[in-house]
Amino acid sequence: MGRKLLLEHINEPGINTFEVYRKKGGYASVEKALKTMTPDAVTEEVKKSGLRGRGGAGFPAGMKWSFIDKKSDKPRYLVCNADESEPGTFKDRYLMERIPHLLIEGMITSSYALGAKTSYIYIRGEYMYIVRILEKAIDEAYANGFLGKNILGTDYSLDLYVHPGAGAYICGEETALLESLEGKRGNPRLKPPFPAVAGLYASPTVVNNVETIATVPAIVNMTGDEYAKIGIGKSTGTKLISASGHINKPGVYEIELGVPVEEFIYSEEYCGGIWKGRKLKAVVAGGSSVPVLPADLILKTAKGEPRLMTYESLSDGGFATGTMLGSGGFIVMDETTSIVQNLYTFARFYHHESCGQCSPCREGTGWMEKILHRLHHGHGKKEDIDVLLDVSKKIEGNTICPLGDAAAWPVASAIRHFRKEFEEAALAHEPLLVNS
Ligand SMILES: Cc1cc2nc3c(=O)[nH]c(=O)nc-3n(C[C@H](O)[C@H](O)[C@H](O)COP(=O)(O)O)c2cc1C
Repeated sequence: MGRKLLLEHINEPGINTFEVYRKKGGYASVEKALKTMTPDAVTEEVKKSGLRGRGGAGFPAGMKWSFIDKKSDKPRYLVCNADESEPGTFKDRYLMERIPHLLIEGMITSSYALGAKTSYIYIRGEYMYIVRILEKAIDEAYANGFLGKNILGTDYSLDLYVHPGAGAYICGEETALLESLEGKRGNPRLKPPFPAVAGLYASPTVVNNVETIATVPAIVNMTGDEYAKIGIGKSTGTKLISASGHINKPGVYEIELGVPVEEFIYSEEYCGGIWKGRKLKAVVAGGSSVPVLPADLILKTAKGEPRLMTYESLSDGGFATGTMLGSGGFIVMDETTSIVQNLYTFARFYHHESCGQCSPCREGTGWMEKILHRLHHGHGKKEDIDVLLDVSKKIEGNTICPLGDAAAWPVASAIRHFRKEFEEAALAHEPLLVNS
């Protein structure tokens, strides 16, 4: 059994309450940090841990914290990104729903490290019921002296708010999130300046994912060096994987980074194999925004080495033969899956969610949806495949935020690895395969 840092107590009855969470050792990192460590020492532990942001890009968390502008006389903010709209990703929901105090604890310890006196959890509008769960946990933390003025009798004070969005994928992009939090339309900002210099209300801000922040208590309690011993190379620690699709045991799994992909898919500890005794066809390993890989390439790299669940191994071979760990939204497809239909579904999503600010994304995602619609429904032409590729290339790298890339990469990879299926769809007069 792999080590569990986030989900260790997830099935404990009453763990969503302050009382039980505290009995299980909860809030120890707040006591340790506020009473025995300087804010910089906490940042140092996070740096040593090698923890990489769990929201998708994998940027080292400690390094991001050290970029915060300490010379500015403006207030500093920590904003938790709980927007979780990436198709295939549902791990943050699980944490917040089941063990909300873990996130609250992480917010307090991390805010202390950053010198933030006010912090926010920005949560997607569809998670309204979790807003209530978090608000109850926050009330309990205030009532027990872990939030508000002079926490635990120290001179550190913090106020924490939950702010729901209105259900837009783009508001997960950190600068669109900040716009939305300020009460404006959620359009991504041009960078630089980066949030660490001019973020919320033009003040120094760190934006981190729920899982990133929820990992900080474990790091502070066990030390960064100990945390860094878990995992492989630059992929340290544990990671939550949202596993879905054609597997026997869909769910949220905490893995030690470095588990072989084959073991993750087939072992009883994790996904339990492909359902109905069918064969594996393809996997989207890190949420809908990453390249799809066929069975042979997800199980082994192009060099023939076993593919591991790490940032490095999953991206081995670049986009030619690799993919990305991303947010850990692991979508498994069996042999009956239509890649064309799957891609059409993704394209519809990106077209709907494009904020419309950049024309390559606004127009390009619409064209990709239209072309994939006709290919999937048996009205396509062979030329459509190259037009589709061309449109995706014209979006990639030409937009303010990476939503455009996220829409383009799956298209390019699906055609790269499954071109024959697109050609068959172009010749057909009705949908070839419908996911079952
Ligand atoms: C279109 C788009 C949607 C995103 N959605 C999320 C999201 O729902 N949750 C998240 O944590 N990061 C999301 N991100 C990444 C954030 O911009 C940012 O990198 C992340 O919150 C940083 O946190 P981390 O360093 O802890 O990973 C998204 C990015 C893009 C381009």
